[in-house]
Amino acid sequence: MSERFLVTGGSRLSGEVSVGGAKNSVLKLMAAALLAEGTTEITNCPDILDVPLMADVLRGLGCEVELAGDVVRIATPAEPKYHADFAAVRQFRASVCVLGPLVARCRQAVVALPGGDAIGSRPLDMHQSGLRLLGAHSTIEHGCVVARADDLHGANIRLAFPSVGATENILMAAVLAKGETVIDNAAREPEIVDLCNMLVQMGAKVGGAGSSTLTIQGVRRLEPTSHRVIGDRIVAATWGIAASMTRGDVRVRGVNPKHLGLVLDKLSSAGAEVTPETDGFRVVQRARPRAVNFATLPYPGFPTDLQPMAIGLATIADGTSMITENVFEARFRFVEEMIRLGADARTDGHHAVVRGISQLSSAPVWSSDIRAGAGLVLAGLVSEGVTEVHDVYHIDRGYPRFVENLQALGGGIERVGTEPTDAR
Ligand code: UD1
Repeated sequence: MSERFLVTGGSRLSGEVSVGGAKNSVLKLMAAALLAEGTTEITNCPDILDVPLMADVLRGLGCEVELAGDVVRIATPAEPKYHADFAAVRQFRASVCVLGPLVARCRQAVVALPGGDAIGSRPLDMHQSGLRLLGAHSTIEHGCVVARADDLHGANIRLAFPSVGATENILMAAVLAKGETVIDNAAREPEIVDLCNMLVQMGAKVGGAGSSTLTIQGVRRLEPTSHRVIGDRIVAATWGIAASMTRGDVRVRGVNPKHLGLVLDKLSSAGAEVTPETDGFRVVQRARPRAVNFATLPYPGFPTDLQPMAIGLATIADGTSMITENVFEARFRFVEEMIRLGADARTDGHHAVVRGISQLSSAPVWSSDIRAGAGLVLAGLVSEGVTEVHDVYHIDRGYPRFVENLQALGGGIERVGTEPTDAR
């Protein structure tokens, strides 16, 4: 029997919680280690399953990887292998971020296609067209994306959409290409800035990090480095939204509050007292949250990864909220599960209209992805009775010690089913 969470509604979250390194950064930083022969050390790694899974992908490419607490050491050989097979990548989509580094280092890459998932189809066309402009020949063959380049050269690349993954793959190929590459309409997420910072430490020449134009002067070789992963803004914001929903008082540490500017503004609009601090923020919500509208957009817009939590907040807010999903086409599927909890919610295309009610009512619900699962747990915390959240392995992929952290804040949650497995 797979594990599930029993969430008892009615508690008010209070206390302090620390977040670890960002999931969406650490995996790309691990892939970037492929770019330099020698040992790269990454610290503040989160204790989530995707880290050892990525370690396996890198081992399959010839690296030696050591995981010790929150430190990952990757020893990259002079000549990495260039084939990341399906067995290694099928378990998590982010493994596709080895594509750019492999093309750069080996001048060829064969990376199995991970396929779509619960939030949308997730094509790789922009990754491929960017690599083509850098001089690679890229096709899809036998379920793999294949890229080969006799010569990688700089290019002007304008992305049709500021895709996080495409920006990362093109950037990691361009750092070892000949000449200058300009990526226009690049993604500006803090995790991209984190990657740029690590690449610069390795000797890459990258300008414009955090803006929508990245300028890269290719260099002949990079050196290994030591780098600390930025704090996970999505996990941090999850706790902030949970504080607001439960009328709680929570201090979150380990994250740069500037990475959550718009999210914290939205919580203020919902009536929370939000105090940014040097290494985090505090959210105090004294009365029922007010309804707020949300539209997900690439950074610095409202993160699509927090849309399920925004829906959770809207379900019990005073008033009607309009939530617009602009990034992933299928990301409203989990709303059916919210409706099981009594939410007054309706979706139409990429819009959801949610009329807040004063309390949800517990029911069994199923997680379909990491963030939907977390959103359902938050909804369980404000439901009358005990909500059973199933398929919680999704939540464990993105949230280290999720249950323990919520319990420490006074949340009524326990894990039942088979014994928890150690992710390392
Ligand atoms: C990353 C994050 C994910 C987050 C998302 C948007 C990781 C491991 N995951 O995913 O948590 O929700 O950014 O902030 O970092 N697209 C194309 N063609 C492409 C590439 C993307 O059409 O070649 C589309 C996607 O289908 C999606 C949109 O662009 O609709 C955004 O995707 P993208 O920014 O690439 O997200 P990921 O990097 O996959």
